[in-house]
Amino acid sequence: MKIIDGKKIAADIKAEIAAEVGKIKTAGRRPPHLAAILVGHDGGSESYVAHKIRDCEEVGFTSTLIRFEEDVREEVLLEAVDRLNRDREIDGFIVQLPLPPHIDEQKVIEAIDPARDVDGFHPVNVGRMVLGIPSFVSATPFGIVEMLTRSGIETSGKNCVIIGRSNIVGRPLSILMSQKKINATVTVAHSRTQNLEKLCAGADILVAAMGMPGFVTESMVKEGAVVIDVGTTRVPDPATKSGFRLKGDVNFEEVAPKCSFITPVPGGVGPMTRVSLLLNTLKAASK
Ligand code: GUN
Repeated sequence: MKIIDGKKIAADIKAEIAAEVGKIKTAGRRPPHLAAILVGHDGGSESYVAHKIRDCEEVGFTSTLIRFEEDVREEVLLEAVDRLNRDREIDGFIVQLPLPPHIDEQKVIEAIDPARDVDGFHPVNVGRMVLGIPSFVSATPFGIVEMLTRSGIETSGKNCVIIGRSNIVGRPLSILMSQKKINATVTVAHSRTQNLEKLCAGADILVAAMGMPGFVTESMVKEGAVVIDVGTTRVPDPATKSGFRLKGDVNFEEVAPKCSFITPVPGGVGPMTRVSLLLNTLKAASK
């Protein structure tokens, strides 16, 4: 059994990005610039955005954080998106999700210029990704594919079961895994799937992306399977400084001994997601 060290792979990619930024600066051009819009003060969102800003600093990107209070009007948010669409000093930007319920999330996503949509959430980017033509691919699926490839994991002809059909992870990942570069045979399982345990137990590659801590147990995993854990639920833990810890969708202790490869939480998919946003921003800047 091998634990896939997402932190190490992401660090290698970050070094490659930093080298690119060095070349850009040497050529007399400004470094890539990522902006993030954060609405409200949700702990998870605050932490994700803080990491994204720190990542930018580490590789030499410029970053800008634009904050709005929880009660911001949709119109005001759409104006901010419009300004970022036109700002020539910015290459790409994200609007951290979820947004408060009074704001139409889809409307905000569709207001983003697809050429600056480094989250890859705009329907134009999703459509291009489905067709296999150049696009911004959302960070988690992009990071998972990169992680499998860089770990030398054979995917061609393998049975891949993805639990979870979200627009951000499960759905786009299912498309990428079935495309020619990866060549897996993909099944997307969800809350209405029947015989889930049996289905998962037939998977060569099992991706848990439904946000249910510890859901995947030993009996759901085939001997020698590759298990990718996308779960990052915050659970209370008085022993930590922050008072919580991240828990994956896989019961790691039970499942790990059966796997050929498994990702830990934290330190698996999370760092790959973060570095993928940097790769997308670098790509936006090169256009
Ligand atoms: N919320 C959870 N994940 C993401 C992400 O990748 N991008 C944005 N914008 N919001 C998120």
